[in-house]
Amino acid sequence: MTAPGSSDRLRGKTVIVTGGTRGIGEAIARGIATAGGQVALCGRDAKAGERIAEEIGAASRYLPLDVGAASGWDGIVPLVERQLGPVTGLVNNAGLGISGNLSRMTDDDVMRMIAVNQLGVWHGMRAAGAAMRANGGGSIVNIGSAAATRAHPGIVAYAGTKAAVVGMSLAAAAELAPHRIRVNVIHPGYFGTRLLDESSRGHGRTMGATATPLGRVAEPEEIVGAAVFLLSDESGFVTGTQIAVDGGLTM
Ligand SMILES: NC(=O)c1ccc[n+]([C@@H]2O[C@H](COP(=O)([O-])OP(=O)(O)OC[C@H]3O[C@@H](n4cnc5c(N)ncnc54)[C@H](O)[C@@H]3O)[C@@H](O)[C@H]2O)c1
Repeated sequence: MTAPGSSDRLRGKTVIVTGGTRGIGEAIARGIATAGGQVALCGRDAKAGERIAEEIGAASRYLPLDVGAASGWDGIVPLVERQLGPVTGLVNNAGLGISGNLSRMTDDDVMRMIAVNQLGVWHGMRAAGAAMRANGGGSIVNIGSAAATRAHPGIVAYAGTKAAVVGMSLAAAAELAPHRIRVNVIHPGYFGTRLLDESSRGHGRTMGATATPLGRVAEPEEIVGAAVFLLSDESGFVTGTQIAVDGGLTM
């Protein structure tokens, strides 16, 4: 086992990060490479994805993927394994945050969020879980949200998809444990990303700083420590847990 802080913490691991083309996913992807792992950025923004993969270097690839479509997942794991090696990690990070009160939210927007935030995690755990079984084990990290546990108006549908991530993660942790596959959740609080800005019509950073006991919103890089820990062998006895990275928002 490698020591905490070592840049070899993910040496020999190949990790898929969905939506790794900006925000929290990009930070996690870069953090994986810094920790010595190989990383496949799977998402829908080819221009950003290819640029980031090139910046990371030989340990990274960008592969196009719509996480909500089962057909996309069919080929992605074999492709990653051909290009980078046996898949041992998955970060289900891709997410869509559309806010709106019960009376105003359209069913179409609700279904779009379910497709990405909930079905995306389902497809990812199924596809990568099968590969990890064949590869002798692995670690799945699902990105939830403080919204799954903290009441806030205007996000009923989004909160529902993130609560679903918790339920699916716990059940998957139980189901996959005999195959040495661990499943854990990270719940971000307010992070300064496009999702926060767009879902709050520009008020999210001020609102988040006011609501957060530590008095500010987080930078995307502040999630990396928790993600690398959960993907590494340092957390080899940790499964079915939820880690809040939220500046005390949900304490
Ligand atoms: N920013 C926050 O304050 C915050 C808080 C709690 C939870 N989260 C969660 O963190 C995760 C990352 O969010 P972020 O803040 O970095 O947002 P972001 O909007 O910056 O990034 C989201 C990423 O998901 C990708 N994506 C969206 N739909 C996709 C699809 N169908 N297939 C593949 N990729 C898709 C986007 O292209 C983008 O790369 C999300 O799951 C989000 O719900 C964010």
